[in-house]
Amino acid sequence: MPVILEKKYENNISLAVWQITESHDELQAMLPSEILTDAELASISHPQKQIEFFCSRLVIKHLANSLDIKYLGIKKDENGKPYLAGSKWQMSITHTSNYVAAVMHHSEALGVDMEKPSEKLKRIAHKFLSETERTEAESDIEKLCIYWSAKEALYKLYGKRKVIFNENLYVFPFLKKQVKISGKIKINDINEEYIIYIEKIDGYILVVAGK
Ligand SMILES: CC(C)(COP(=O)(O)OP(=O)(O)OC[C@H]1O[C@@H](n2cnc3c(N)ncnc32)[C@H](O)[C@@H]1OP(=O)(O)O)[C@@H](O)C(=O)NCCC(=O)NCCS
Repeated sequence: MPVILEKKYENNISLAVWQITESHDELQAMLPSEILTDAELASISHPQKQIEFFCSRLVIKHLANSLDIKYLGIKKDENGKPYLAGSKWQMSITHTSNYVAAVMHHSEALGVDMEKPSEKLKRIAHKFLSETERTEAESDIEKLCIYWSAKEALYKLYGKRKVIFNENLYVFPFLKKQVKISGKIKINDINEEYIIYIEKIDGYILVVAGK
């Protein structure tokens, strides 16, 4: 399972992207039983989902090792937002069929998402983009994918349910060649801007959102 990209952004967010090459059993053997409990394993029935689950735990374990943090496993809060057991470090995970990516920061909430541009995004654009954003996106599937992934990453950063993507999450206008853009979460008493980093990997768009 080679790490194909590992980097630290200027705001101290660490990113690792892992390419999935191992079999289900090889991956399972890499996770000690005190980290991967029988109950966790039993909660995921589909073998492909188990592979994604193993890989995301392994990529976080890898990042934790690089950052010299003790890795005691991942737990979920009542909204499904993952957090590192016994640590104040913040984290986020995304998986695709071929890759998993994880980000960590010592204190600020953050989000990561990885998607492939697809025609489907044109059909659902009205559900996740405001009028202004739709005009900006110009039905370009790469731009639409950046908008979608940026909003998924902002959603993961916020971590709570009841977010209306085309009202509560905003991505400021950008050019496709930009590697750093910005966005906003406006919900209840929160009105905060965030930095959004963009990576292009093997036809995928990977987006990292943080302070
Ligand atoms: C939860 C959600 C963000 C996951 O995104 P996804 O593209 O399906 O899957 P990804 O692989 O990118 O991310 C999965 C990871 O998200 C994380 N996640 C789940 N719920 C989360 C939450 N509330 N906050 C932060 N992260 C969360 C988990 O760590 C999960 O990985 P794990 O199960 O291995 O721990 C997505 O399913 C979702 O609910 N989105 C919001 C609702 C929505 O899409 N609305 C549509 C508006 S048009």
